[in-house]
Amino acid sequence: MKVDVLLGLQWGDEGKGKVVDVLTPRYDIIARFQGGPNAGHSLEFNTIKHVLHTIPSGIFRPHQINIIGNGVVIDPIVFKREVGTLRSLVDDIAQKLFISKKAHLILPSHRILDAASESAKGKTKIGSTLRGIGPAYMDKTGRNGLRVGDLLSAGFREKYHALLEKHQQLLQQYDFQYKLADYEEGWFEGIEELKKFEIIDSEVFINKELKKGKTILAEGAQGTLLDIDFGSYPYVTSSSTICAGACTGLGVPPTRIGEVLGIFKAYCTRVGSGPFPTELTCETGENLRKKGQEFGATTGRPRRCGWLDLVALKYSVMLNGVTQLIMTKADILSGFEKIKVCTAYRTENGIISDFPYELSDTVEPVYEELPAWKEELSGVKSAKDLPGPLKEYIRYIEKHLEVPVSIVSVGPNREQTIELKVG
Ligand code: GDP
Ligand code: IMO
Ligand code: MG
Repeated sequence: MKVDVLLGLQWGDEGKGKVVDVLTPRYDIIARFQGGPNAGHSLEFNTIKHVLHTIPSGIFRPHQINIIGNGVVIDPIVFKREVGTLRSLVDDIAQKLFISKKAHLILPSHRILDAASESAKGKTKIGSTLRGIGPAYMDKTGRNGLRVGDLLSAGFREKYHALLEKHQQLLQQYDFQYKLADYEEGWFEGIEELKKFEIIDSEVFINKELKKGKTILAEGAQGTLLDIDFGSYPYVTSSSTICAGACTGLGVPPTRIGEVLGIFKAYCTRVGSGPFPTELTCETGENLRKKGQEFGATTGRPRRCGWLDLVALKYSVMLNGVTQLIMTKADILSGFEKIKVCTAYRTENGIISDFPYELSDTVEPVYEELPAWKEELSGVKSAKDLPGPLKEYIRYIEKHLEVPVSIVSVGPNREQTIELKVG
């Protein structure tokens, strides 16, 4: 069997958590492949509203195995807290959540280094979630990191202290006050919590399950425009958020990748610093933020809002080899006077339609205006009841991106999901 990959095509928060939860019953295994607790994936069903940071969004369904893959970085403090809130909602969580031995650990000193680095950057700060993501991946690629598999070895405390000492030396470069003791105790409690779960060679497990005919959905975090190689560098995260990241982050060969489900909001948001060509700093942007409740699921920061950017989306579709598109938050566009989409950028060197090397603040969007609709969508159950202008909006996007839209989401709840006929 193949691994289908669901990933974000914008700057994160496209609604991955919601849609993974909806699609989970079609799979045997759900596996996160990169990122860490910088992610905030929201789910809603019955009366439950939940935000997941490290644990895959398939965890609420009864029959699926969930895996935290080798490409993920885990903060034991966040993990323990997350498991704590899930215990009352999920039966036998330890039976259905497996963790890769090769996933790296975020140390308390990684969080401190993240904060120190951001504070030293001043105006040029990345706008990091301050969860220690950058420093943890730096230690991974610098070949200093601690891995989940190390928990099982007798020398774990020594390894921890050796890495901590390195971090303390680094921290001397910064004029930054910190209190390690505030985190350390909780961190070791988190380590004990991790030990209660099955710590496995997840790449071997996954490939054996595929051979047996089991189906897998790989869940991305962040989004393509935050990818370490192809995002709006340096305003990016520190992992490979694109489809190729699912191969390295789970240990599956490229030939095993099946459908690539690219998810995007009907408009665009970004949280943190960095260029955002279609950002609306006017009342329309404020209306999108209010109606869409655009506040970060991890940090609570207001998200910057703007119109859909088809130049950026086309680039994301290309990088990921997207086979199906999923549009979320279509309901938020109801009632706007007009709807605009960006189809090109005006730059100092003329009009371009390819995503440029440097997405500087001087790039200006070239817009097309499309018909708007007044009807509220949150109660719409089937494709035939979608307003005409929304159908036209979808067709316009499909034509531009040359990929069909297979799902339209019209609200945060599981039920508010409409499948479209493809083909
Ligand atoms: P993720 O990081 O990609 O999982 O997305 P987040 O959970 O950070 O942000 C998406 C937000 O939009 C969450 O609050 C979801 O509950 C909500 N959401 C998801 N899909 C829809 C939708 O179709 N309509 C509306 N109104 N909200 C949605
Ligand atoms: P999900 O999975 C939106 C952004 C941060 C910052 C940049 C780097 O919920 O879509 P980091 O903490 O990774 O060093 O921050 O990336 N960022 C996200 N933005 N959604 C996310 O995750 C994000 N994870 C990181 O705001 O701009
Ligand atoms: Mg999110």
